[in-house]
Amino acid sequence: MSQTLSQMRLGLFIQAAGHHFSGWRYPGAQSGSENFKLIRQLTEAAERACLDMVFFGDKLVTTAQEHPSMIVRFEPLTLLGALASVTERIGLAATASTTYGEPYSVARQFGTLDHISEGRVAWNVVTTGYDSAENFTRATHPDHAQRYAVAEEFVDVVRGLWDSFEDGAYVRDAKTGVYLDAQKMHRLDHKGEYFDIAGPLNLTRSPQGHPVLIQAGSSGPGMGLAARVAEVVFTAQQDLAGAQQFYADLKRQVVAHGRDPQHCLVMPGIMPIIGATQADAQARFEQLQQWTDLDAALLLVSDRLGQDLSGFDLDQPLPDLPLPQNMRSRAKLLLDISHRDGLTLRQICYLAGGARGHKMVIGTPAQVADEMIAWFEGEAADGFNLMPSHFPEGLQLFIDGVLPILRQRGLFRERYEGRTLRDHLGLPRPAHRFAAAH
Ligand SMILES: Cc1cc2nc3c(=O)[nH]c(=O)nc-3n(C[C@H](O)[C@H](O)[C@H](O)COP(=O)(O)O)c2cc1C
Repeated sequence: MSQTLSQMRLGLFIQAAGHHFSGWRYPGAQSGSENFKLIRQLTEAAERACLDMVFFGDKLVTTAQEHPSMIVRFEPLTLLGALASVTERIGLAATASTTYGEPYSVARQFGTLDHISEGRVAWNVVTTGYDSAENFTRATHPDHAQRYAVAEEFVDVVRGLWDSFEDGAYVRDAKTGVYLDAQKMHRLDHKGEYFDIAGPLNLTRSPQGHPVLIQAGSSGPGMGLAARVAEVVFTAQQDLAGAQQFYADLKRQVVAHGRDPQHCLVMPGIMPIIGATQADAQARFEQLQQWTDLDAALLLVSDRLGQDLSGFDLDQPLPDLPLPQNMRSRAKLLLDISHRDGLTLRQICYLAGGARGHKMVIGTPAQVADEMIAWFEGEAADGFNLMPSHFPEGLQLFIDGVLPILRQRGLFRERYEGRTLRDHLGLPRPAHRFAAAH
């Protein structure tokens, strides 16, 4: 059993042209990261299925060679605002960068969204693996260590700003004329190494106290930040043993911070390719793979490894390459697989073109459910971030085929019990930083 939970958590990672590089070409696939109708439909389907949340990633630079789902995309917080007003229960999560953002703005945006959604929002804290300096009037992209040092302080400032008002600060007593209890309003007066921020934030505490914090870096400093502050951890893991090791390492670090391991949920990405039979699922996968453009996949792998690989022999395993400054844990994962399993660069390209290094399960609904259960019960995952190869069919096959099996086994909810994302995930509402003073 997961170290902590009796039921798994499930999020839907939405990239509207599909997660597989060629998902948009699958018969019947709809596509488009700017297709709000489709994004809304997927979110509503996920809500009917009682998933914990939908998630939108973000990137701040683009090229024509990107993954088809990533060439263009909506600004994710604006998107969450739109989705908040057409949904009632499902959690809404999005990425915002600590390298290219301002803590005051990030605190205000997510705080506002948490109010609008009545407590359903999560912030995926990323340091931004990609050099985005050219779009932000910066001379350079900070190195890995610096990005994480900034991120640590950034998150603390945001959490402090979210506590600008204590709960119940707004008295609104028409009889006495007391609108605000000013004693319950606090400046932050933060003076740190990277940020100098007075506060207070011009927003009361949101329904969840703080929006849920997600972290998605799996390098040493990434895990360090996650263990200290994250309530959900997204990660790419390929095999059960590696995922178990990551899970155990992270939970150990969470406990070392004096935190309850139940309050830091590990949710690896998973791409299910579902068919009526194993052969049918395999045929579906092969159909997707045969469309993968090797040149485009080579660019994707070059990007992940931080090195132009076009001169390398496609039929040899990857040489020992130094880990890059960007996307460090994903680079390590691809290099490790190539070295451990003797995969050639060509095979790595097809693997990365499939699920970008995330786990893929190809099989019947029962086989997919069994694999998920093995990870959940084997202390490798508290739940999963679902990454359908294409939409909407890839999601519907999961909902119709796999969810009923998980439910039969008592491993996934039949209906929402609470209202907020914290309720769904079983996370406590954080105490106000001055709560102990009263
Ligand atoms: C499920 C998942 C979602 C992610 N989403 C984003 C994202 O939206 N934007 C981003 O810049 N990085 C994203 N990342 C990448 C990491 O946040 C991180 O930037 C990258 O892996 C480099 O950090 P690391 O060196 O600590 O691994 C995501 C990673 C995972 C596993």
